[in-house]
Amino acid sequence: MPWLARGMSAALAAVVLLAAGRAQALDAEQRRVKGMLDEMCGRCHAVGTTGQSPNPLAPAFRSFGEKLYDTDMVQRLQDGLTTIHPEMPTFRFNAHDAAAAVNYLRVIQRRR
Ligand code: HEC
Repeated sequence: MPWLARGMSAALAAVVLLAAGRAQALDAEQRRVKGMLDEMCGRCHAVGTTGQSPNPLAPAFRSFGEKLYDTDMVQRLQDGLTTIHPEMPTFRFNAHDAAAAVNYLRVIQRRR
């Protein structure tokens, strides 16, 4: 059914365009890692550049600011962020994803 395949790729292209339009500032890798963070962290933290954290105790990712530079966040993500609040589950990132996550977090920090 070639018409079906064509329809589906058109729909896919539309979705890709929409996603690209909404997050112009993010490259493919940053969008990938945002998807990961949405899934793993999004039930507590505001992961994007807008919105409130679902858990009022969890800071919005865009508000971390200097924290991302002061501490070795890439290492902490790999070690499992265990130093954090007990309410927060332990996550372990591989080296690649940890670096990508911190890169993303830096990109979304509010400009001051
Ligand atoms: C079940 C809820 C929950 C989830 C899921 C969660 N967090 Fe948190 N997180 C919190 C809370 C609550 C705090 C505030 C703790 C505090 O500062 O005492 C926090 C604080 C933080 C901090 C700042 C504290 C510090 O020591 O720098 C970072 C960074 C962080 N979270 C990253 C993440 C990442 C990355 C994920 C996903 C991989 C995640 N969190 C998932 C609840 C959560």
